[in-house]
Amino acid sequence: MRLDIVTIFPEYLVPLRVALLGKAIENGRISVDVHDLRDWTRDVHRSVDDSPYGGGPGMVMRPDVWGPCLDDVCPDEATLVVPSPAGVPFTQATAQRWSRLDHLVFACGRYEGIDQRVFDDAARRVRVEEVSLGDFVLIGGEVAAMAMIEATVRLLDGVLGNPRSHQEDSFSDGLLEGPSYTRPITWRDLSVPDVLRSGDHAKIARWRHEQGLERTRERRPDLLDRPDAPASSAPADPD
Ligand code: ADE
Repeated sequence: MRLDIVTIFPEYLVPLRVALLGKAIENGRISVDVHDLRDWTRDVHRSVDDSPYGGGPGMVMRPDVWGPCLDDVCPDEATLVVPSPAGVPFTQATAQRWSRLDHLVFACGRYEGIDQRVFDDAARRVRVEEVSLGDFVLIGGEVAAMAMIEATVRLLDGVLGNPRSHQEDSFSDGLLEGPSYTRPITWRDLSVPDVLRSGDHAKIARWRHEQGLERTRERRPDLLDRPDAPASSAPADPD
């Protein structure tokens, strides 16, 4: 998978090269190119923004800088992703869909956003997805792009050591994941639930499902109201 990210703060994206994503770059599973939007400016001040038509606070990023940049870094076959609080919600299903694509280009805006014509123009030749990380406002799209990239890249074959890790994620069965435990058996008076030490895999799977269901009811009842919500019965024996 190829990833291109356009930003006015390339240094913000340095953490993408650390740990598992860094390894995925090293072993060629993904390629990551970060582009400085200012390289497409043509004035001495390297200016990327201007005041909004119609008035109001803040600045809007200029189409005559973004346009030529996307002409260069976003080929027709790519998907252009625009992180924005005004986008559609990013979910695990989005990450799963993106993980099957060959090329994603992220356009990270700052200030009051990017001139709408940049996306209207790009949409004439590429798929454009404006996507939000949640109902809050970040300073720019960079942190949102990194979160979306991490959620997507970890689903690629060979990125996580054990593929079961993401098959058993929160959300992959529509429920939140329940609690996890490791050694020691008792720590500060708190013990690991007996069922997890029973060796009975069917019983353990049922218990985990019930814990996930209870946690989902408590913390995210909205997930259970959806038409595609998982059945509340226990899963079949995993073996
Ligand atoms: N940029 C600023 N806020 C954002 C959000 N909530 N999601 C995605 N991109 C953003």
